[in-house]
Formats: sequence, structure tokens, C-alpha cells
Amino acid sequence: MERQELDSFYDQTRLRSEAYADSKNLVARADIYRFAVPDIAFPSWALSHLSNNLGVSLDVGCGPGFYLRKIYEAGSSNQLFGVDLSDGMLREVQSRIASLCVADAQSLPFGDKSFDTVLCMHVLYHVPDIALAVAEFRRVLKPDGYLLVATNGPRHQQRLREVLNEAVPDTTATSPAKVWPEHRFDLDKGQGILGTHFHSVERFDLARELIVPEAEPVVRYLASTRSLGEERLPEGVTWDEVQQTFRGIVEREIEEKGAFRTPIHAGVFVCK
Ligand SMILES: C[S@@+](CC[C@H](N)C(=O)[O-])C[C@H]1O[C@@H](n2cnc3c(N)ncnc32)[C@H](O)[C@@H]1O
Repeated sequence: MERQELDSFYDQTRLRSEAYADSKNLVARADIYRFAVPDIAFPSWALSHLSNNLGVSLDVGCGPGFYLRKIYEAGSSNQLFGVDLSDGMLREVQSRIASLCVADAQSLPFGDKSFDTVLCMHVLYHVPDIALAVAEFRRVLKPDGYLLVATNGPRHQQRLREVLNEAVPDTTATSPAKVWPEHRFDLDKGQGILGTHFHSVERFDLARELIVPEAEPVVRYLASTRSLGEERLPEGVTWDEVQQTFRGIVEREIEEKGAFRTPIHAGVFVCK
């Protein structure tokens, strides 16, 4: 895939020091999923697509270790490794769970054929050269190993995205501001990209809806994306005013319909 101009979604210095300096933003975003209908927890659903015996496993972009902890507690891996760009994230992973190091998905500090299982959950859309990372996953996996990749579908958070775009004053007549860019790696694009290095790529989707009865969790979700989206605002428009307008639209929608509703859609690829 062509390397695009660096922006806050995949500028590694900024991801490390702002969006993912620690787990605060990630935890704020994860909080909204308690309003998901049906009430299915994505991490457990995602891991259910792998066998109960994961062997030697690596979680790339492990963040604060949500998946590492689940795998550890289930006793399904006999040796666990986690890497992340952000040392702040790694500091939050319990060290007894896994061997950890700061590393970039595009250049993994492991030998060829080291792992039975590699996970990369909601990370690839942040990686500048996605194809290079996928080649690295193939390289460090044993020939009969499995790769599990999670990402979002194109309609993920669609209503929230629409309200956000409505909340941004249109200062250019021709191109409305897109505070969140289109994903460079989503469920529709993933199959082709992963298929260049894996002969079998199976896709599994989990489509749900968020039904949120109060504005605050929705606004907190938006606020957690500030360092990813603020630079895309038109000149002279501030994040605080956009967030204020966004809150107003969400509150009105809740008043009229009883809840704020938006589709959420994520899924996994199981590759071998
Ligand atoms: C959305 S979070 C997902 C964290 C975790 N996988 C989860 O699902 O809970 C993205 C994580 O990927 C990390 N990350 C971003 N780009 C990376 C890269 N090129 N190599 C390794 N980690 C990266 C970020 O620091 C962050 O912790």
C-alpha cells in the first residue's frame, strides 16, 4: 500500500506521546460499549475464533494488555509476548503476564518462525506501511501459525460520525470537514491486504448498535479522539466549540427519540 502523507492517525511520534501516551483515551472509548445491543463483549468474541491452545503468542500493539490478560487468565498460551509503540501503554500491562518491549509492527524484534499465534487488534489503521507490518507478521509466525486481526467495518459509529461532521462549521463551500478520516484498513479493505501474505483469510463480523440514553458517554467518546482529529478542523474552528455543538445535537436527538443510536460494526480476520 502506498505510504500516505503523515497525519495524526499514523504519525508515530504523536501517537506515542498524545493519543496513546497511556490508556486514558482507549479506556474512555471502550466505556461506551456498555451500551451495545446485543450485549456481546468484543474481546471475548474475537478470541473465540482461535483455538484454546494458542502456543507461543505475540500481541502487536497490545496497549495496556486487555487481550494479553484474557489469554493469560484463560491459560490458553504457554508463553506470551506483547509489543507496543508506546512505553506508557506497556507500563500498564502486568509484567507477570507477558514479556514486553517497545517495538513497531513494521519491524518486529523477533526471529523468523518464532510464534504459533500473532494478534493485532485495532492497530493496523495506525501503521504507516500496513503491507510491511503484514509481511512482518508472516515472517515471525511459524508456517502453520495463525494471525488474528481486528478492525472496524465502514459503517462503524456512522451516526456519531455524521453528527461530528454536522458539528463542524463548513468554512469551505466544496469540501465539508472530515474530522475522522476514512479508515485505511477496515473490514472491507483488510481481506486483500492480508491475502498478499496469507493463503487463507477468513472474515467474521460483529454488527451491533449503541443505544445511549444520556449525552455524556457520547461526548466523552468524542473527547477521547481529540488528539487524532483536532488538526483536521478548518482554520479558526476550535475543538471546544465543535464539541459543544456536538453535545447539543446529541442532547436534542435523545430528547426526541429517547436515546442516541448509532451502528457499531467490528470484526476479525483469521489468517493462516
Ligand atoms: C486502538 S489501540 C488498541 C490496543 C489493543 N490492541 C486493544 O485492542 O485493546 C492501538 C494501539 O496500537 C499501538 N500502535 C500504534 N501504531 C503501532 C505500531 N506501528 N506498532 C506497534 N504498536 C502500535 C498504540 O500505541 C496503541 O496502544
